[in-house]
Amino acid sequence: MVKVGIVGVGTVGVSVAQILKENADVISARAGRDIVVKSGVVKNLSKDRGVDITLTDNVDDILNDDEIEIVVELMGGVDEPYEVVTKALKSGKAVVTANKALLAYHRYELQELAKDIAFEYEASVAGGIPIINALRNGLSANHIESIMGIMNGTCNYMLTKMSNEGVAYDVILKEAQDLGYAEADPTFDVGGYDAAHKLLILASIAYGIDAKPEDILIEGIENISQDDIAFAKEFGYAIKLLGIAKKDGNEVELRVHAALVPQDEMIAKIDGVMNGISVVGDKVGETLYYGAGAGGDATASAVVANIVDIVRGGKSTPMLGFDRPMEAGTLTLKDSADIESKYYLRVNVSDKAGVLARITKIFEEHNISVQTMLQRPADGSSANLLISTHNAKESDIQAMIQTLQELDFVQSKPAMIRIV
Ligand code: HSE
Repeated sequence: MVKVGIVGVGTVGVSVAQILKENADVISARAGRDIVVKSGVVKNLSKDRGVDITLTDNVDDILNDDEIEIVVELMGGVDEPYEVVTKALKSGKAVVTANKALLAYHRYELQELAKDIAFEYEASVAGGIPIINALRNGLSANHIESIMGIMNGTCNYMLTKMSNEGVAYDVILKEAQDLGYAEADPTFDVGGYDAAHKLLILASIAYGIDAKPEDILIEGIENISQDDIAFAKEFGYAIKLLGIAKKDGNEVELRVHAALVPQDEMIAKIDGVMNGISVVGDKVGETLYYGAGAGGDATASAVVANIVDIVRGGKSTPMLGFDRPMEAGTLTLKDSADIESKYYLRVNVSDKAGVLARITKIFEEHNISVQTMLQRPADGSSANLLISTHNAKESDIQAMIQTLQELDFVQSKPAMIRIV
């Protein structure tokens, strides 16, 4: 019998304990041994977790327990889990984590530290979807050309409800929290950081890029308005928060932002809490991965799969899937200012003569070509200009937004969404 200790018995931890019990028949058949949770660590011992495992508030009870072979880290955060995971690996225990923030900052050190000890993290990206396994093993023959997808269930749930039912932002965020989709601090979700953590993990496996969240372009969904949603519908787009990794020569661009996706693309049809990630390999072509990206049982499904793998004796060595520099070590992170895209802008202007001419002149001065333009009355004296562009450079768009917002007839900072 294999004994597991869970550090952090919240929504996912409870589901891990329940799945190991409820599905013990298939799990032990597949693992070749029975697997039980010996104990779990919580901060507050008086809170009822509704699960039948021994609880402690002292992590050393697990770290110093020789019977526990596998430590499941589900604490969230970075520093505290880093300490726990480091101690577990140093004492020779296998580790399974769902903690993307930890990996976004420490994945290379942890790979170095883990060496021959199993360290698995399937649940850290896209909840129940086995995307790590696909990228690290299933697609190992390929140069990866791009990874693009919906990697945050909370944002996708919110955008879907805002778009389909017109539900207000705050109401729908609260609903996502109540359903257990959101991070403890939901600004990680709506600010794009959670998706960025996941993108960085995938980019390491695909390209060996050692970037940190601070190095890449990250924007969230906080500024998406019903005006933007109306524009998207009118012009045949869905609005999605995307994580994008794309190889261009020897550079890799990494970015997370809301995007207008043509409605006939498969990614545009992925709604609710579901995640969907497209990976293009040079030999396999496009592959698509779809499933629940958040929620206790879906995430725990991936955690338990890692436990089963470890018990079987399988270890994916090394943790990130490569131990020599990939692509001859020549790939570097593209500067965000050089990223190219099409853009949509919403500019709230005073509704008076000459404004449109001034605006189009400014587009020309910044070398940006307009593709479509629509004017919508806002309140009595102002109007919203809804503009889409042809391909333009990020630095040009940012400079133009700066110029626009300084004009006396522009009433607030223009909103911008990239088009893919
Ligand atoms: N808060 C995350 C999400 C949970 O909404 O996708 C899964 O990482």
